[in-house]
Amino acid sequence: MNRRPRRNRKSSAIRSMVEETKLGTENLIYPLFIEDGKGVKTEIKSLPNNFRWSLDTLLIEMDECVNLGLDKFVLFPAVSESLKDSVASYSYASDNFYLDAIHQIKDRFPNIELMSDVALDPYSSDGHDGLVKGGEILNDETLPILAKMSIAQAQAGIDIIGPSDMMDGRVGFIRESLDAANYKDVSIMSYCAKYASAFYGPFRDALDSAPKAGDKKSYQMNPANKREALIEAELDVQEGADMLMVKPATFYLDVIQMLRENFDLPITAYNVSGECAMVYAASANGWLDYESAMFEMLLSIRRAGADGILTYFAKDFARLT
Ligand code: PBG
Repeated sequence: MNRRPRRNRKSSAIRSMVEETKLGTENLIYPLFIEDGKGVKTEIKSLPNNFRWSLDTLLIEMDECVNLGLDKFVLFPAVSESLKDSVASYSYASDNFYLDAIHQIKDRFPNIELMSDVALDPYSSDGHDGLVKGGEILNDETLPILAKMSIAQAQAGIDIIGPSDMMDGRVGFIRESLDAANYKDVSIMSYCAKYASAFYGPFRDALDSAPKAGDKKSYQMNPANKREALIEAELDVQEGADMLMVKPATFYLDVIQMLRENFDLPITAYNVSGECAMVYAASANGWLDYESAMFEMLLSIRRAGADGILTYFAKDFARLT
């Protein structure tokens, strides 16, 4: 044997030199859930260690996160059922607590990048990402609502808009609306290849946002499809997206790699609630070692080519590194 790959693994000193993938806190985006009120810290049952916060408790939590080195967050609102309607009008209402929270968070932490989610589902009495009529999800009629929501968030001070709705043409529509309102520096991180996945369950528990009827298969992608992600990416690039996201992440590493190889924009991946819940559950049972399983999961997403990873593990990762 004149070739022995093990020689390059013989010490921690060598291993660290030949390590191909670097993963740091700078790669992570931390999803947080907020509801209206005061003094709230409610654990999400299907996503242990993650909470619904009110603004006061959230600011304290974010302070801790920022001190750990996290500087990118995505904020999701849990809206009370009584404020939801079929046209998601609360999403851009002037007294919307989420918009107020964006404003106050940016006031307090001007140096972070704060990202939003743009879709109707947290505000919709139908629980769908688009307008529903006769059981159908309307595409073009949804776009102006997404644009209004985006402008309201931009006005509140959001740094990055994250359209997660999967309507056709929404990136271009939102980009034009933002530009027309003079929010040229607000970025769009498009949920580009977002699959109709079973792994969003804990997230929908967190927000009480599950569809009231039907599923999301007429707008989110079929998990069996890979080439279709190229079509979605091509469109989002043309329409002006600044970054492309693949979601979920771990079961879609091939899609991440494919977009990395075919496009020059930064690629992000959403390590979704169900993926994290599996690790939480198995480690709570003593079946997996939490720390190493979490590291390996994140590393695999990075190795596939993601520049940024949205993950519920972000705070633990930052604490442990
Ligand atoms: C809503 C949205 C979802 C997630 C992010 N934005 C749920 C869905 O599409 O039903 C899921 C994130 C996660 O599971 O962590 N548009």
